[in-house]
Amino acid sequence: MGAVKCIGILTSGGDAPGMNAAIRAVTRAAIYNGLGVKGIYRGYKGLVTGEIKEFKSQNVSNIIQLGGTILKTARCKEFTTPEGRQLAYDNMKKEGIDALVIIGGDGSLTGARVFAEEFDVPCIGLPGTIDNDLYGTDTTIGYDTALNTILDAVDKIRDTATSHERLFFVEVMGRDAGFLALNGAIASGAEAAIIPEVSTEVDQLEEFIKNGFRKSKNSSIVLVAESELTGGAMHYAERVKNEYPQYDVRVTILGHLQRGGSPTAHDRILASRLGAAAIDAIMEGQRNVMIGIDHDEVVYVPFVKAIKKNKPIQRELMNVLRELSI
Ligand code: F6P
Repeated sequence: MGAVKCIGILTSGGDAPGMNAAIRAVTRAAIYNGLGVKGIYRGYKGLVTGEIKEFKSQNVSNIIQLGGTILKTARCKEFTTPEGRQLAYDNMKKEGIDALVIIGGDGSLTGARVFAEEFDVPCIGLPGTIDNDLYGTDTTIGYDTALNTILDAVDKIRDTATSHERLFFVEVMGRDAGFLALNGAIASGAEAAIIPEVSTEVDQLEEFIKNGFRKSKNSSIVLVAESELTGGAMHYAERVKNEYPQYDVRVTILGHLQRGGSPTAHDRILASRLGAAAIDAIMEGQRNVMIGIDHDEVVYVPFVKAIKKNKPIQRELMNVLRELSI
């Protein structure tokens, strides 16, 4: 593959606040560096079907503050087949696209890795997911906004929990990662978090009750990470009804509320930094890497690492939560 003259940009998988800021940053940094830019709609689907449009600087005006993604997003079955990827490659060539920037989570970066290897196409990934579950980056685009949305919701739930002296299980997203639940619990002053990372080690409900739930309080909030490993908030509410019937228990599932909204300053800055770094990486001849932030420095993380390695929860945070919820 020769020098890159034109890049294609797409968003894929679950949307995340800050994706638009990333699209803006990639587009403007590319133009600044003399590259052409093409926006690819509906993730890999647009690459397969040829839904591609030339982007100028104006195409990304006034979007830094918007949630969602102006490029739309989708999970594309066809791209998982060799025939689908061949169509995608043919469309890339037809449009004169030499390299791709993919903004998405682990599924999206897995697709990029396969495509890059099959067709020798430079692919650069940006971590865009509220789950924060990509290895090699301190945070992902959208995570901070989702955390703040959780805080806003929990603050409101606490009002009614306190008035009625109830125990609330609040289910948050994260797929199979507990970052939103654990940090959401610390930041909202919740009493506990139930997370998949420790679900096989301890009975988290029993521990929470044993640790003195309601000794000094008349209401409690527990954040539960959605996951087959935890069983979700409903599972714990049922358990409390059966095992501790003296407690008045309720459930709130925050759901897709967590995926929307205007990105926080943190997510806008992160997306802008990573977007500009993606173009630097392309100009340097990098390929098959995700751009991340590690200790406030931009880093290149090989796709295989970002996708395959499990990002660990900081155990120290669990102690902080336990100590502060007495
Ligand atoms: O990966 C982001 C995420 O919001 C997860 O937290 C959640 O499990 C999943 O996507 C939901 O996916 P969908 O929007 O397809 O229901």
